[in-house]
Amino acid sequence: MFRRAACLVINMSLIVFISLLLCSVNCSAIPARASSNQQSQPQQVTAAPKFMSRGQTYRAVIGDTLVLPCEVQDLGSYVLLWRRGSAVVTADKMMVTRDPRFRLVDGYNLEIGNVMPQDAGDYVCQIGEYRDQINTVEILVPPSVRTSPASGQLTARKGGTVTLECKASGNPVPTILWSRKDDSLPSGEKALEGFSITLEKVDRHQAGVYQCTASNGVGDPITVDMQLHVLYPPEVEVERSWVHSGEGYEAQLVCIVHGEPHPNTLWYQDSFPLEPTERRTMESRGNKHTLTIRNVQSSDFGNYSCVAENTLGKAKKYMELSGRPSPAQFNSLPYSRSRDSYNLTWQLESYPPLEEVRLLYRKLMINETPHHPGNWHDVILKPSNGETFSHVMSYDIRNLESGSVYEAIVQAKNRYGWNEVSESMQFYTRGPSEDTYDYPSEPHVDMELVAASSTKLIWKPSLMLIIAAVFHVVS
Ligand SMILES: *[C@@H]1O[C@H](CO)[C@@H](O)[C@H](O)[C@H]1NC(C)=O
Ligand SMILES: *[C@@H]1O[C@H](CO)[C@@H](O)[C@H](O)[C@H]1NC(C)=O
Repeated sequence: MFRRAACLVINMSLIVFISLLLCSVNCSAIPARASSNQQSQPQQVTAAPKFMSRGQTYRAVIGDTLVLPCEVQDLGSYVLLWRRGSAVVTADKMMVTRDPRFRLVDGYNLEIGNVMPQDAGDYVCQIGEYRDQINTVEILVPPSVRTSPASGQLTARKGGTVTLECKASGNPVPTILWSRKDDSLPSGEKALEGFSITLEKVDRHQAGVYQCTASNGVGDPITVDMQLHVLYPPEVEVERSWVHSGEGYEAQLVCIVHGEPHPNTLWYQDSFPLEPTERRTMESRGNKHTLTIRNVQSSDFGNYSCVAENTLGKAKKYMELSGRPSPAQFNSLPYSRSRDSYNLTWQLESYPPLEEVRLLYRKLMINETPHHPGNWHDVILKPSNGETFSHVMSYDIRNLESGSVYEAIVQAKNRYGWNEVSESMQFYTRGPSEDTYDYPSEPHVDMELVAASSTKLIWKPSLMLIIAAVFHVVS
């Protein structure tokens, strides 16, 4: 308070001083001129001083040099003052302020070098007590950002709620946009505006780097990173829960483990922990854990598990290494070219030769219920064992009824036993009155597309009926 009052006193005394100065200049100059005029020619009316520039608002970025114009015509012997509030900056050509960043250029234009935020305000160019003109200075400040927490590192537990906050300053007030590095925000949006974002029920998918960008049109936008760590118990996935191999071959079992803190992952065969041996290696790359068994022996077949543990918990997944053939995968298209036969093709994997393959098929009745299925036809096939590992087989099923729906399953056996039964494959025979049907090149051709592009497809209504019927049977 005291200091401000003192300042005011100084300013006031300055004004008094300047007024005195002004008066003395006027009082001495005008009579002097008057007397010289008197000597020569008849007296002329001295023109009044006139502002040639206009007062306006100037915007400057901090660090810039700003020139506030004040051009006056016919100043005569008047003294031109620059003041800011009651503080005088310049009087005539004299610098009153001690701030070296201020100077007069090209007459009475006031230059402010290395502009600072505190330079904002009104600057008055005043001619004696006669007139004044106001220039307003606005200082534009590029954005700056502080994150909360200041470290930019946040940790949350799975299921918890976390708020990321950014405080920005600058002039004009900056806008803050939130985004995520290399990803969209958990809400699905690319960016969100606001001081903070709150994430609820966080899980590992929300972890990562978030970015807050402040911009106000002055300078470049500023972006700061915030890293969200989510702590959660291990989550284990297996690449394949059933892995086929053969004696003398190699097998690979793969587990994908997520967890924070980073879990410790161990392999078990049945309930025995596994150690690396000459034939067995365990490898971890990122969150992928691979158990490789070379030169597989029959004792290696069985039940394996991958157990991951961190301070928050433990998780386990089973997988089976088996010598039995893999379940059959069907490759034939579901629509037969023929009215009374269907060429079923499938593929399965077995290192040892296949000993027996069994095909079961039956007709699905339109008004059949799942509790009263039709009779299965059982076909035993002697496989030709040309290749090892991948076996492609086909069987032409004959004596089928036209315009009907059938289902088929396949099972195969090698020296380790029968495999799991395949999924059921449904197929359709052509109706009695239908034209030759050209196979669509893709098995999953959109029905409407087929109907629109092929006028030959007159059996479409009956096909739709069949599909409806099958749907009815299944549900
Ligand atoms: C593996 O062992 C577990 C635990 O005994 C059991 O639940 C699971 O069914 C087994 N899986 C196979 C394929 O044998
Ligand atoms: C059945 O399809 C397979 C594979 O496309 C083919 O090799 C085989 O010759 C076909 N059989 C008949 C009877 O058309």
